[in-house]
Amino acid sequence: MPYCLGLQTAAEAFRSISLATQFTLAVVIFLIIVTIVSALQKDGVDSPPSLPGPSLFAIWPFFRRRYDFLNWGFHATGQNTFRFNLLGNNVVVVSGESARQTFFTAKGLDLTEGFKILSGAIPMVRGVTSDLQTRRIQQIHKRLANVQRHDRLSELIPCILEDSRRLMESWGSAGKFDPFEKVYELTFQLTIRSLSCTEIADDPVAVAQLKKLYDELDTGTTPATVLLPWLPTPAMIKKLLATKKIYDIVAKAIKDREQSGVHHNDTLQMLLDSGDDRLVVVGFIMGLLIAGARATGTTASWLLTFLGGHPDWRNKAAVEVQKLLSASSSDPSQPLSKRLASISLETWESETPVLDSIIRETTRVAQPHTAMRRNLGPDLYIDDKLIPSGAYVIYPFSDVHLDPDLYPDPWKFDPGRKEPEGVPYSYVGWGGGKTMCLGTRLAKVELKLVTAMFVLGFEHDVVNASGEPMYPLPTPNWNDILLCRPPQGSFSLGYTKTSVVL
Ligand code: HEM
Ligand SMILES: *[C@@H]1O[C@H](CO)[C@@H](O)[C@H](O)[C@H]1NC(C)=O
Ligand SMILES: *[C@@H]1O[C@H](CO)[C@@H](O)[C@H](O)[C@H]1NC(C)=O
Repeated sequence: MPYCLGLQTAAEAFRSISLATQFTLAVVIFLIIVTIVSALQKDGVDSPPSLPGPSLFAIWPFFRRRYDFLNWGFHATGQNTFRFNLLGNNVVVVSGESARQTFFTAKGLDLTEGFKILSGAIPMVRGVTSDLQTRRIQQIHKRLANVQRHDRLSELIPCILEDSRRLMESWGSAGKFDPFEKVYELTFQLTIRSLSCTEIADDPVAVAQLKKLYDELDTGTTPATVLLPWLPTPAMIKKLLATKKIYDIVAKAIKDREQSGVHHNDTLQMLLDSGDDRLVVVGFIMGLLIAGARATGTTASWLLTFLGGHPDWRNKAAVEVQKLLSASSSDPSQPLSKRLASISLETWESETPVLDSIIRETTRVAQPHTAMRRNLGPDLYIDDKLIPSGAYVIYPFSDVHLDPDLYPDPWKFDPGRKEPEGVPYSYVGWGGGKTMCLGTRLAKVELKLVTAMFVLGFEHDVVNASGEPMYPLPTPNWNDILLCRPPQGSFSLGYTKTSVVL
């Protein structure tokens, strides 16, 4: 056994040298062992395979063609788990049923930390966004639950309908629009109404300005701003300025409210009355608009696009809402927005199976989410692959929502399809396990009200660039991580007002 001999010789040699040298050598050997062990840990048998090629090449596609990039990674490594290096961070991409289960339930996996680094959407400004993420987030979530309490959400319904009426009337009696502009604009208004204050929501100029600033934050996320956040590139400066301007608008609204003494029973007032410090109030409005406006806008835009291309489902939705109207106490001579406001929150939430299935199918097929976590706990294993403490883990929703075994013909919009049975987390459109969407109640009500107004107030279909009925219908583009938007200008929604008064 030669290695025993070697050790013995080494030990004898060790004894014959001076104490100082012994100590130095011991330290060196210790360091070597630590290095080897940690290298083994990272590249050991239980470590997921790395992507081929230099890690710098991963940055651009991760932000610009994520769906293709992740699929390529699974393909290139031939595994259902792989890792790559993003800006010095160890990122593990997981897929498959058992990986998904661990991903959504593991205790150490943290959403906020994962989102912070990997999304790159919000610049971390000391004293504003960076402290906010860690310290005040619990408080913000508690207030968000308050906004969606039964009485508050009920009171929001007429406001949401009134905003929808105003914007839809501005669309005129016929025409065509890009849903990613017009429908998105509408849901942005509704989100501002629900999450901020009357003064901003009633001021179309302020809303338009905020929308532009949020767009700058989202689209300003270039690989460079994420790679070198400290480097004052033009994109980075633009983002910082946008953050600052949003902050100023919100801070001004707070100040005005505190000084004017005018009372509005809105979300801002609820926040101020709760006695939260200003950072929580600002963080609530800034942070939740980011979390909520984009997702709601994407879903609403796609939902109406799908209904435009599927007259059968459009009709089913219209019939369902019509039935609720007939059952309600509303006066048929009143405008649609007023009549819809007489339907109770309970009814919207529990008696709209068609709208529910349409929302579910839309969030399945057109929500290009990649869930991101950081392992803040000890090392853990997903599918026998090591996720070291401190590493990032991501799970692309395409893995489950576009899986043809669970959803045959997965790109097809079919709200009538059978839900997969007995498969854990086979639908995660509103999150799963430890992290569920905290704005679900509000978002669903918004989507239902907008859909109800639109299908009864208008006829519509999907038209191509020359204004002809489009076939095949547009397909969600999962490479666009924000809106799932196909090439701009490739289609629009053509609409005609019905005789119903909005
Ligand atoms: C159609 C609209 C929406 C969809 C489809 C949606 C979907 C989701 C999903 C899938 C997650 C989990 C993310 C993950 O696991 O990585 C999530 C989390 C979250 N959502 Fe939404 N969301 C929507 C609207 C909103 C709105 C309007 C708000 C706020 C008012 C909101 C607030 C949040 C928050 C705060 C979280 C993080 C929860 C946590 O930290 O545990 N969402 N959402
Ligand atoms: C504000 O609205 C809530 C419910 O949305 C209600 O409980 C509360 O009494 C209202 N407060 C005032 C001062 O009107
Ligand atoms: C739109 O559709 C019509 C009829 O299907 C077709 O003739 C036309 O070339 C299409 N236009 C574009 C820009 O695709």
